[in-house]
Amino acid sequence: MLLANEIALVTGGSRGIGKACSLALAKEGAEIIVNYVSNEAAAQQVCDEIRALGGKASAIKFDVGNVAETHEALQGLIKEKKFISILVNNAGITCDGLMMRFPTEDWDRVMNTNLRGAFITSQAVIRGMMKERRGSIIHMSSIVGITGNAGQSAYCAAKAGLIGLTKSMAKELASRNIRVNAVAPGYIETDMTDALTAEQKEGILKEIPLNRVGKPEEIASAVVFLASSKANYITGQTVIVDGGMGM
Ligand SMILES: NC(=O)c1ccc[n+]([C@@H]2O[C@H](COP(=O)([O-])OP(=O)(O)OC[C@H]3O[C@@H](n4cnc5c(N)ncnc54)[C@H](OP(=O)(O)O)[C@@H]3O)[C@@H](O)[C@H]2O)c1
Repeated sequence: MLLANEIALVTGGSRGIGKACSLALAKEGAEIIVNYVSNEAAAQQVCDEIRALGGKASAIKFDVGNVAETHEALQGLIKEKKFISILVNNAGITCDGLMMRFPTEDWDRVMNTNLRGAFITSQAVIRGMMKERRGSIIHMSSIVGITGNAGQSAYCAAKAGLIGLTKSMAKELASRNIRVNAVAPGYIETDMTDALTAEQKEGILKEIPLNRVGKPEEIASAVVFLASSKANYITGQTVIVDGGMGM
């Protein structure tokens, strides 16, 4: 197994892409800490699925955008587990609307969860990685963080910000043998994209050369690769998994 003896924290690990990452990392032998913010039942279900596979998992509640809550939750966790060797900053929300009328409160909310949350969680986790002189961090960006998208200015800015954060963290932490990469998914079938109208879905499909929606497991494969020693010489990169959408 690629990740035996590793401990992975997956933010937003309870549903969608995060759930697929939790399961895929567990299948490679990692112990999984499943973070969630509101849906405890979903997080427990992921833990149960991992245990049924013979793996180790526990759920932890914190809002990644809340500094005090995140630090408090992770301090306790790190004391217990010593150090987290894999961090997947996956928690994210969307809030769409044309920029002209977009409320600044919504801008703040999107930035807070998608970008600031990844920064805060990383800050709490890297101390242990630095001490151990190893670790792998993966930020969940998006293809629209590279291409931009009308009606998603806040979301695209946050996801583009994650790519800058990835490169800066990679440069700061490389000397401690901590690799930092991002994954940029295209259109993936989850609760998040379920909210799109049939017309929107049809419009997006036309932009995908592989002519289908992606599966959460297809994002998880890239995450497992980046987390593993197979990617030992890869840092500061953004791996695009989008069926060709952003070409
Ligand atoms: N789906 C796509 O097509 C797509 C494309 C590109 C990028 N992405 C990115 O991939 C990531 C996962 O997306 P998804 O489609 O799987 O979303 P999803 O199905 O809506 O799941 C979101 C997950 O994030 C958690 N979460 C939300 N806000 C949080 C907070 N403040 N603190 C902690 N956890 C929080 C949720 O926890 P609860 O269960 O407790 O609510 C849930 O586990 C996001 O960063 C998203 O932007 C998705």
